[in-house]
Amino acid sequence: MYRIVIKLSGSKFKVPINLDVIKSLCTAFISLADEGVQPIIVTGGGAVARFYIDAVRALKSDETTLDELGILASRLNARIIISCLGSMAYPIVPSNMEEVSLALTSGKIVVLGGLYPGHSTNATAALVAEKACANLFINATDVDGVYSEDPKVNKNAKRFTKIDTKTLFNLVNKLPMMAGTYDLMDPLSIKIIERSKIKVRIILCSPENIVDAAKGLPIGTEVVVSI
Ligand code: UTP
Repeated sequence: MYRIVIKLSGSKFKVPINLDVIKSLCTAFISLADEGVQPIIVTGGGAVARFYIDAVRALKSDETTLDELGILASRLNARIIISCLGSMAYPIVPSNMEEVSLALTSGKIVVLGGLYPGHSTNATAALVAEKACANLFINATDVDGVYSEDPKVNKNAKRFTKIDTKTLFNLVNKLPMMAGTYDLMDPLSIKIIERSKIKVRIILCSPENIVDAAKGLPIGTEVVVSI
């Protein structure tokens, strides 16, 4: 089966939830399923994850506990997508790789949040893409690709149309690794992509862009494995 893992930006899960946004994303996932693709959706934790992480960090919690809160929040977001997809979705949010494998056998759209502390849902999505032997991993995020610097800070930052994993690793390796702050692609996700030569495209999250990226159109940034 042609499988595409789609990391869905946590920024799509506002408080309160905008159901029109969720519905239009789900329409895109269903259109992919109708074309014979098995979409595997990994939902970010978004604002809810950060609210809980910030509150509990102020109580001097350890980072693993904070990561666990982020994972719980991302799973709540997965539940919203499952509810919206109805019978097109596998009804359970997998919480480990065995459950992911089982869910994949259903042939339905599989939706999950985070799995393990210590990384982001991007790394989860890379691990799931590896496990599912996915044909493509689309990182649908809140920027339209990878930039030489943070485009929100420097307006002159340059967007890459293609970036190799070594350059990407060097860019993200400078960033902090704390609960709620793992960025665009964390180091673990890049290592997984590299070792299994997973095809990756990083795009601005919208239903149209997800469908275009799934068709192989050259939008956002393509990540190529360094030799
Ligand atoms: P994410 O970092 O993936 O959500 O998970 P986000 O910030 O909404 O991501 P974007 O904006 O879509 O990129 C929230 C937090 O949950 C924990 C981490 O602390 C992470 O920062 N988490 C998530 C894990 O520890 N493990 C996971 O597998 C997923």
